[in-house]
Amino acid sequence: MAFPKDFVWGAAAASYQIEGAFDADGKGASVWDMFVRKQGTVFRGHTGDVACEHYHRYPEDVALMKQLGLKGYRLSVSWPRVLPGGIGPANDKGLAYYDRLVDTLLAADIAPWVTLFHWDFPLELYRRGGWLNRDSADWFADYTALLAERLSDRVVNWMTFNEPQCFVLLGQATALQAPGDKLRDDELVLAQHNVLLAHGKAVQALRAHSKQPGNIGYAPVGIVSIPATEDPKDLAAAERRMSSVSASHWDNVSWFDPVFLGKYPEDAAFISKLPRGYEEDLTIIHQPIDFCGTNIYFGTSVREGRDGEPEQVQEPAGFPSTALNWPVTPSALFHGPRYFHARYGKPIVITENGLSCRDWVALDGAVHDPTRIDFMTRYLRELHRAIQAGVPVSGYFHWSVMDNFEWSEGYKERFGLIYVDYQTQKRTLKDSAHWYAKLIASNGQVAL
Ligand code: FCB
Repeated sequence: MAFPKDFVWGAAAASYQIEGAFDADGKGASVWDMFVRKQGTVFRGHTGDVACEHYHRYPEDVALMKQLGLKGYRLSVSWPRVLPGGIGPANDKGLAYYDRLVDTLLAADIAPWVTLFHWDFPLELYRRGGWLNRDSADWFADYTALLAERLSDRVVNWMTFNEPQCFVLLGQATALQAPGDKLRDDELVLAQHNVLLAHGKAVQALRAHSKQPGNIGYAPVGIVSIPATEDPKDLAAAERRMSSVSASHWDNVSWFDPVFLGKYPEDAAFISKLPRGYEEDLTIIHQPIDFCGTNIYFGTSVREGRDGEPEQVQEPAGFPSTALNWPVTPSALFHGPRYFHARYGKPIVITENGLSCRDWVALDGAVHDPTRIDFMTRYLRELHRAIQAGVPVSGYFHWSVMDNFEWSEGYKERFGLIYVDYQTQKRTLKDSAHWYAKLIASNGQVAL
């Protein structure tokens, strides 16, 4: 067998990036609805107002997913669609939409993998201080309980947060993403801590309100170091770099350790800035969870420097890169899963991996994206190598199932297996989608 028998071949998307219908049926505003309206935040002023109209077109989209043979589809719920003010009265029309989506997926034999939060934070709660307000952990837990009550008769697989590093740091330190703030370091530490507390409380809420045992995980960015050579010193340097705390907070351990190990990294300078009594919160943050999800797009080459410290190695001139200029480094899907499993002891799920390409519809009506096929082949071979080396990897979710609103890059970046013409909303399966269908049908043989 090429890949494990029950391997979850999947694809992913997120509410704000595909749904559109930004103010339909009683939906409240999110920080992204606010952010995209600020001048200069998004490429050419694009917004997610309409996006892929998935809110209305989900039956067609799920039919395409079925054509791909997806075993799992990772979707996210828009918090302000189901709770327009973030707390308070629920919006039944919003909940009913997720009911229909889940039912349609199940009828197509596709398991829904639900992310509770993929960045569309309720604007009203942002105005109450957002993640800086300690109550945010309870707001999030209440929202989670609502979803568990409503969907857990049919949904088993849950993830709390997508890439907390991004929405806390890109959202509130560098202002590249919503809400677009530049907070002080002590405020960032507070926001980070509240997000982690919210994670723990959400896991508790899922366990308490679910109608069946859940498969619960978390989906942070996996920041991967790739040893520059096979020299054990470089291997050790790469490991050390993956375990080290960054002053900018852009690291693994500040975000994974509290969740999986119940502690902040001992050498973290920010410990002195944590709110008083944070130690007690750690027992809530450290809820047992079932898998370690992580989004991995690339890794950075690292060796031992002259001073004995890990040192980043620049890619040589002309190194392969994607349309977004992200380096193509397949072995990130070997070293990443191996590291996260060794450190945290949980099964690994690749909750996102993929690339943007300059795709268009060719004269023959097809979308030819050989680089995506080559990229996936190379990365999946490395993932397979990790599995052979004994890492329990239970799923792979390609980002993305379809082209969509790529945050501050707008519609310029196309990450999909399915091409979307935003003028007509016509969908076209790219060559890579046809290839992925064959790969799934053969349980990975095609890539090996
Ligand atoms: C990740 C995000 C996802 C998408 C991909 C390209 O950082 O989780 O929404 O934008 O990058």
